[in-house]
Amino acid sequence: MKKRYIWPLMLITISAIGFWRSTPTIAADAASPSSVKIADGEIDPGEWGKAYPAQYESWKQTGEMTPAGKSKYKKGLDADGITYDKLSEYPYMALLFNGWGFGVEYNEPQGHARMLSDQVMIDPSRVGAGGVCLTCKTPYASRLEKEKGIDYYSKPWDEVRHMIPEKHQELGVACIDCHDNRDMSLKISRGFTLGKALETIKKDQATLTRQEMRSIVCAQCHVTYNINKNADKKSVGVYFPWQGSSWGDISVENIIKQIRNDQTVGEWTQKVTGYKMPFMRHPEFELFSRNSVHWLAGVACADCHMPPTKAGEATVTDHRVMSPLKNNLRACEQCHSATEEELRTQIFTIQDRTVSMMIRSGNATAVAAKLIEKVHAAQASGKEIDKALYEKAKDFYMEAFFRSLFVGAENSTGFHNPTEAMRILGDSTAFAMKAEALLRQALTKAGIEVPIIVDLELAKYLDNRGAKKLMGQPGMEIKDPFGVQEKLISDKP
Ligand code: HEC
Ligand code: HEC
Ligand code: HEC
Ligand code: HEC
Repeated sequence: MKKRYIWPLMLITISAIGFWRSTPTIAADAASPSSVKIADGEIDPGEWGKAYPAQYESWKQTGEMTPAGKSKYKKGLDADGITYDKLSEYPYMALLFNGWGFGVEYNEPQGHARMLSDQVMIDPSRVGAGGVCLTCKTPYASRLEKEKGIDYYSKPWDEVRHMIPEKHQELGVACIDCHDNRDMSLKISRGFTLGKALETIKKDQATLTRQEMRSIVCAQCHVTYNINKNADKKSVGVYFPWQGSSWGDISVENIIKQIRNDQTVGEWTQKVTGYKMPFMRHPEFELFSRNSVHWLAGVACADCHMPPTKAGEATVTDHRVMSPLKNNLRACEQCHSATEEELRTQIFTIQDRTVSMMIRSGNATAVAAKLIEKVHAAQASGKEIDKALYEKAKDFYMEAFFRSLFVGAENSTGFHNPTEAMRILGDSTAFAMKAEALLRQALTKAGIEVPIIVDLELAKYLDNRGAKKLMGQPGMEIKDPFGVQEKLISDKP
């Protein structure tokens, strides 16, 4: 990007954006109260669509296939018709998640209209936690939580889904999730999750600016969360692990500290190590808002994922939320004067580097996991293992695992905050290598030899997964773009 020319241009463009935001251009032809009234509590997007047809039409398009060949790493439901299996893309994940739903079937995200129907189709082990899984998947979540209380969380997923009116049992993100029906302003519809989380970080909801709302509506779902379990392993609650953090600074360190110390969120047992574990999901808001360059510049999620678009004569907000790459980077052109090709190169450069480090950290963590398995087998056969070495290694392993999980679960492949993603992956790799060293020492001390290259036995974890007997698809694997990983696992000197 030619920075010298960009600043003046950007200032002009940014102030131009400020202009259209603060003047009634978009507001006048679209947001001004429609003459069609939307009833309070109306969930049906079709009804909202009668008042705002342009937004409704683009919202509906999130159910369609997205253009193929535009995104490099996020090929969700592209027009190539292939379901991209994250475990085949990153085989180390199959090993690390083995023991629960994410290790059985884990696909790349698709459009908003499909979120609940995708859940209907996924391996049943993925919704084992119960009704609580509907929290980010149906506009009825808040209502169900209020009316059914604890039953909402703990009852079987399909039973709770059937409490939703029949015609909406496959309805995805709806207008009511983000909007107030009276004036179409943005609003938080999930007080029981995001509302509480904002209290935790002492951010007063009343002070949220319009620009902050353009990110916070997404943070209702694009965040990591944990499910509380009672003694009978039933789900009894859900929360965002933001304790100890603050607005603009929700750190991976604080999240790890919170979930490792909260015994109620151990949702699954990792097969290879036998450890009871919490989990992390899609922390888009956390990564992005941790002082990324764009966050600091006041850019919001909607700026890149919901750019203004023409609908006839009117300019409206594009409700076809998707990867900006699939929209030919029109969103970026609001602020950047670089060509589409230059911007695409910028994104791919960031993503290639992130993926290389993701593969490094994931594989290093997987090696440590296999050595822990070896230690446990040695102990089972009566060998004495040095406790101090083992405990230290276990602690480092956990730190490595959660950092690798965090970036791998975040959906921008590093783009939302490149330097922070790289920092986290670097730390993950450091913790994993240290764990490996300590485990090798413990095993050697017990008289057990460890080969130079630890066999991850990936096929064991990739093949015959779940009820559908899913197989690993070698052609889908994402290889280290710089070839460093191959060098690390080569036994040639
Ligand atoms: C009510 C929960 C919810 C809200 C609110 C929400 N999302 Fe999503 N979003 C999801 C889920 C769930 C998926 C994955 C759906 C699937 O794979 O079936 C998703 C997928 C996406 C995708 C991938 C789309 C594709 O074509 O692959 C993008 C991009 C995205 N969301 C951005 C946003 C942005 C930006 C906002 C705020 C303006 C937002 N989301 C608000 C739940 C939500
Ligand atoms: C994931 C969140 C989300 C969902 C779901 C959503 N919107 Fe929006 N909508 C937005 C955002 C963000 C804006 C921009 C608001 C702003 O800048 O203040 C917006 C703006 C609007 C506006 C103002 C005019 C404009 O185009 O900017 C209207 C009208 C609107 N949406 C209608 C709808 C309708 C109808 C639906 C359902 C079919 C819907 N929206 C679903 C997030 C959402
Ligand atoms: C400066 C622009 C920008 C901002 C701001 C931004 N994103 Fe993104 N986002 C991207 C790009 C670029 C990608 C990578 C898309 C790809 O690889 O195809 C992406 C990817 C995603 C994806 C995965 C898309 C897919 O197709 O699977 C989701 C979900 C997402 N962003 C949500 C968010 C949320 C939520 C926020 C705010 C917390 C946000 N984004 C802020 C540019 C942005
Ligand atoms: C609302 C305005 C806005 C939008 C939309 C926007 N950007 Fe930016 N972008 C900025 C600003 C401001 C900066 C900081 C400029 C600087 O420091 O040089 C920036 C910086 C960047 C950087 C350098 C970041 C770094 O970490 O060094 C890249 C790369 C970038 N943008 C790419 C994109 C891409 C790709 C998109 C679209 C997906 C996009 N931007 C959308 C305003 C925006």
